[in-house]
Amino acid sequence: MTTTETAPTYSGDIYTDAALLEPYEDYRALRELSPAVWLEKHGAYAVARYDEARAVLMDSDTFRSANGIALNEPANEAILGCTLASDGELHAHLRQVVAHRLTPRALRPMKDLVRERADELVAELVERKSFDAVADLARALPLSIVPDFIGWPQEGREHLLRWAGANFDSFGPMNERAQRAMPQCGEMAAFGAEVVRTGNVLPGSLGAGVLEARDKGEVTTEQTMMLMLDYLAPSLDTTISAVGSAIWLFSQHPDQWDLLREDPSLIPNAVNEIVRIESPIRAFGRLANVDTEIGGVPVPAGSRVLVIYASANRDERKFERPDEFDVTRRDAVHQLGFGLGDHGCAGQGLARMETESLLHALAQRVTRFHVGETERALNNLIRAFGTVQVTVDTED
Ligand code: HEM
Repeated sequence: MTTTETAPTYSGDIYTDAALLEPYEDYRALRELSPAVWLEKHGAYAVARYDEARAVLMDSDTFRSANGIALNEPANEAILGCTLASDGELHAHLRQVVAHRLTPRALRPMKDLVRERADELVAELVERKSFDAVADLARALPLSIVPDFIGWPQEGREHLLRWAGANFDSFGPMNERAQRAMPQCGEMAAFGAEVVRTGNVLPGSLGAGVLEARDKGEVTTEQTMMLMLDYLAPSLDTTISAVGSAIWLFSQHPDQWDLLREDPSLIPNAVNEIVRIESPIRAFGRLANVDTEIGGVPVPAGSRVLVIYASANRDERKFERPDEFDVTRRDAVHQLGFGLGDHGCAGQGLARMETESLLHALAQRVTRFHVGETERALNNLIRAFGTVQVTVDTED
């Protein structure tokens, strides 16, 4: 492949409030410019097209996570050596300590519990007719499942959403949002360290498994502290974002809701389509290990590269009618919203189970969603609503 001289430059800041609220025009402009675009404001190459984003994610020898995945160095230093920010043998080892608890087979016994909780929750909300689809639905299910699954102690749970949000804010550029987040990330790390020191986790949980691995000498105490947070930090806001977006999307596209109600076997594909069109995580970074190229554009060793999943998922080169929400879309399964390759989402089985269970329970009862007041929750990494007030119609 021939390489062009240099990457075109983009002077816009894609992390201002306005850009986070309406990101898709920036992403379209980046895709149109080139396979790799130099983001002047952020000191990184944006990879906004699908094919190149996929190629970067699949080549972890060239595009490393071990130097961090954030757009600022204090955050990168703070997470060095965790699952998300490690490569090769260390990364494989850290994943192997925990990942067997998240395989489809291991999660099978959870299915009934998640379905039951989703059913109870939806039955109660439908009875009320009007509720906040974020606070009452999207947050309620993960909060009733995930902390127990991880084994997090009861005390400290009231901080979880704040800490998890701060964790994602800290991965952006060092803007005001990231600065505000840093002390809160410190609080979360200190709490995690305390949990490991006291061994205060629920028996049989993922956290208990991590402590057992430490006791057997499979991981160091420092790795144990990181593993405790590696799975907790990304497990809430992401799923909450997907469920909040789902309700909003179905309220705007009642024909798609009718399709889902007529044929609930479409639900797994609908989850892919939701994650494609409103990708909960906007982007993560990598560091080029050697002089390389992205789609023919030279990228020198040591460059930060930003893989924008939310843009790749709307790439017109890959998806027909990319801005249209279509639960029957055959290639929705190719979305990159859960990442791909070595660092592909370790918790997607659980996230899919939660989201699918809520959609099943809703499809049995709700004929229409009418959305009232909505508000976005601004975060450097997570695209989500903070509020989606909704009134539902039912068959009776
Ligand atoms: C809709 C929900 C979710 C979305 C969209 C999502 C998205 C992602 C993405 C894009 C990555 C890739 C990171 C990279 O490329 O560097 C990732 C990694 C990860 N996710 Fe998720 N996630 C979700 C839910 C969850 C849940 C529920 C958990 C935990 C139970 C979880 C745990 C993880 C972990 C541990 C990693 C790091 C994997 C590694 O670096 O090897 N995620 N996720």
